[in-house]
Amino acid sequence: MYYRYGDTDFWSAVVNDFHEKIRSDPLLRRYFCRRSQAEVQMINFAILKAGLGLVDSGYEDVVKYAHQSRGIRKEHLDRFFICLKSALDQANVLPEDAETIIANLSNYSSLLIDETSSEGVEEDEES
Ligand code: HEM
Repeated sequence: MYYRYGDTDFWSAVVNDFHEKIRSDPLLRRYFCRRSQAEVQMINFAILKAGLGLVDSGYEDVVKYAHQSRGIRKEHLDRFFICLKSALDQANVLPEDAETIIANLSNYSSLLIDETSSEGVEEDEES
């Protein structure tokens, strides 16, 4: 699927747009404001590749370790996927391909969500 849409330039544009969207989302932005834009973009590029099924070995461990105790809840993940879907739609990725990408990423859900996190959403809270 990666090369069906062009190459790195195409997916970089998707990643940039995705990044804009998560940075403007009131629920997500506090998670992504600390690292530099370049770092977040590298991370997001790797996420997109994982969605495309191009996963490096050990990626699951990296994902698990990076999100431990961050208080990520299902609503964060849902918003994250809404941002991604919208970036994919805007780049004219076919709906069935977008679905595959998000389905692949959903496999990581249990590694991201913090079951111990309390209910209630606090926007812009410092953690
Ligand atoms: C399937 C979805 C996701 C995948 C595959 C994923 C994967 C990753 C990876 C690979 C890293 C980099 C780890 C490193 O370089 O050490 C990372 C970092 C990070 N992710 Fe995610 N992520 C996902 C969703 C989310 C969501 C929904 C949030 C929060 C709402 C989030 C918050 C973060 C944060 C805050 C970091 C930076 C960690 C740090 O500073 O060390 N991620 N993610």
